[in-house]
Amino acid sequence: MDYHQPVLLSETITALEVKPNCIYIDATLGNGGHTIEILKLGGIVYGIDQDPTNLEIASARIKDLGLERNFNPIKSNFTELTKVVKQINHPISGILFDLGLSSGQQKSQGRGFSFNDELSLDMRLDSTIQTETAENIINTWSYEELYDIFTKLAQEKFAKPLIIKIISERQHLPIKTGQRLATIVREFYSQRHIHSSIDPSTKVFMALRITVNQEFINLKTVLNSTLSLNPGCVVIFIAFHSGEDRFIKQFIRQNFPNSPKPIRPQHSETIVNPLSRSAVLRSYRII
Ligand SMILES: C[S@@+](CC[C@H](N)C(=O)[O-])C[C@H]1O[C@@H](n2cnc3c(N)ncnc32)[C@H](O)[C@@H]1O
Repeated sequence: MDYHQPVLLSETITALEVKPNCIYIDATLGNGGHTIEILKLGGIVYGIDQDPTNLEIASARIKDLGLERNFNPIKSNFTELTKVVKQINHPISGILFDLGLSSGQQKSQGRGFSFNDELSLDMRLDSTIQTETAENIINTWSYEELYDIFTKLAQEKFAKPLIIKIISERQHLPIKTGQRLATIVREFYSQRHIHSSIDPSTKVFMALRITVNQEFINLKTVLNSTLSLNPGCVVIFIAFHSGEDRFIKQFIRQNFPNSPKPIRPQHSETIVNPLSRSAVLRSYRII
């Protein structure tokens, strides 16, 4: 299986100062890339993920490696952090938030995150609980509502004419797949001879994903929850979106002004794993 490649792995492990028999929370378990390294070093890990598929993938992978003894999977939103910590009922040595999606989620057919998804435009991390989908947003939200998310969450420069095109397309035929939405956005860019260094659909997909999964709201909630963690606990955030990173930076400046400088991937990592290019790791220690 092609697992998600963990970003800033050695930097994260160094910042966590992993020690045997100490307790760590991986609040964004994904495919378990970071967790596996913590387990190998003898740490005890509580791995949280909202996505039941990723929780299963990581649990099976950890079992295959014979590392399951110190691993505790938890299906939850990380906004439930305070509840999880209360249940653990022991001091936490470190906690990791590796934000965003895993590469498997990003690429899979039927989840709606991919530009090539021929089956879906869903984008929910947990379809057993969440009700709002990207398909519903793109087909039913008003011009003003779409404008708000495209500009505020993704700084889409051509939001106005692009939304006019999307509304005209959806009136003709509802937009039900990632592939159709990506085609509409790409056509818009190419008809106007607008060149983009990234796929033109990137921003629209990002705005939808953030909205469906309430990513900014979750981040704000959990940053505040970390304030009630035990003193000494190291908190690490890896962000891939400049808006999220700005938010984390401001929070740290305000609450933990003497924290380490941010860490970005080495050139060698970005060559092997281009998805790491925009990653920024920030950490602080609860006092
Ligand atoms: C970038 S991936 C983590 C990859 C992981 N570090 C690894 O090496 O495999 C982010 C993961 O966080 C999960 N996630 C995102 N938001 C979440 C939330 N609010 N609560 C719990 N899990 C969340 C996603 O489902 C995804 O599996």
